[in-house]
Amino acid sequence: MTSTPSILLTVLLVSLLTPSSATKRHVIDFRSPGLYPEGLTWDPSGQHFVVGSLHSRTIHSVSDAGVVQTIISDPYLPENATILGLAVDSSKRRLLAGIHCAPPLLPCSALAAYDLRSGGRRIFLSPLPSLDSEDTVRDIANDVAVDYEGNAYVTNSAKNFIWKVDRDGVASVFSTSPLFSSQPVAADADASFRDCGLNGIVYNSKGYLLVVQSNTGKMFKVDEETGTARLVLLNRDLVAADGMARRRRDGTVVVVSQKKIWFLKSQDSWGEGVVYDEVELDVEGFATAVTVAGEDRVYVLYGRVMEGIMGSYKDGEAREWFEIEEVLSEKEGGYDKVWVYVLVGLGFTYFCFWRFQMKKLITNMDKKIT
Ligand SMILES: *[C@@H]1O[C@H](CO)[C@@H](O)[C@H](O)[C@H]1NC(C)=O
Repeated sequence: MTSTPSILLTVLLVSLLTPSSATKRHVIDFRSPGLYPEGLTWDPSGQHFVVGSLHSRTIHSVSDAGVVQTIISDPYLPENATILGLAVDSSKRRLLAGIHCAPPLLPCSALAAYDLRSGGRRIFLSPLPSLDSEDTVRDIANDVAVDYEGNAYVTNSAKNFIWKVDRDGVASVFSTSPLFSSQPVAADADASFRDCGLNGIVYNSKGYLLVVQSNTGKMFKVDEETGTARLVLLNRDLVAADGMARRRRDGTVVVVSQKKIWFLKSQDSWGEGVVYDEVELDVEGFATAVTVAGEDRVYVLYGRVMEGIMGSYKDGEAREWFEIEEVLSEKEGGYDKVWVYVLVGLGFTYFCFWRFQMKKLITNMDKKIT
């Protein structure tokens, strides 16, 4: 008699305590020979990731099963130009891409916009103006964020300022705050990012942008109207910070570097911020970008860009496979665990109720028999 409920309870407990799919990390391997993508974003309408290419003037979608499709192939871009930051303007169904030409190519900093509704037709390719035409150090148009009116904001990693490109493609210098060059370069900054300033950027609909700076590890809050910047006080420096993304659900922000990813939150609209978790990444993968996909899940791109730039291929052949991997913060697991306890509680209640019913049944039967 008592064995049936205990079997039921055991089955219930086992099914509850087995890790659910929500706690399994999603790993996507995708094949695209020689791609070495630096930029990554998520297209919510297409329900796929979007990655750029180091030298082939193409942009590709990657499905959550790893199926790759070329969505943009733009021979109008300078030969061997690099696609850096990517952002999707959901309201206009546009894709915005930062374009950079590394030496020995001629400089070519630009923002390209493509229409995702019409098979990737180019809407504009706007050259980004230099501050000083005499300057011989080239600009680097790196990461891109977009606001709800279709204005794009592009970081200049070489010169520490931010461009703005409106929805018609009119480009201007937007923020040249002296704060951007006021912070000391991190003591342990190595050659790979010592000269890399402003980098990852995200837009917040409350009227500001957040920007991180690779070589100082600092974060700035930049007013959307005036371009005025303030230093965000953090409990640690985000040294070698690269790409950045924001989660809509709770406003938390993730910042990626080659070695780790930081999870940050703020109680006061980013006057101050706290790193509440950090997760080590696969250093070989050379993560450069992070994005937030369906249900606020965080994904990093292992594009192995340095291998592509140096041409340091393992067997003399360009790499064919790259990865997009989900990153989970253990500090956020609490939500799921609460549900396990709630369900165990429910199971126990059900068990007691069953016992109670059985008892009643037996009492009734006893009554009938006597
Ligand atoms: C582009 O890259 C290829 C392969 O490295 C090279 O052969 C070609 O000369 C480059 N083109 C330009 C314009 O630099």
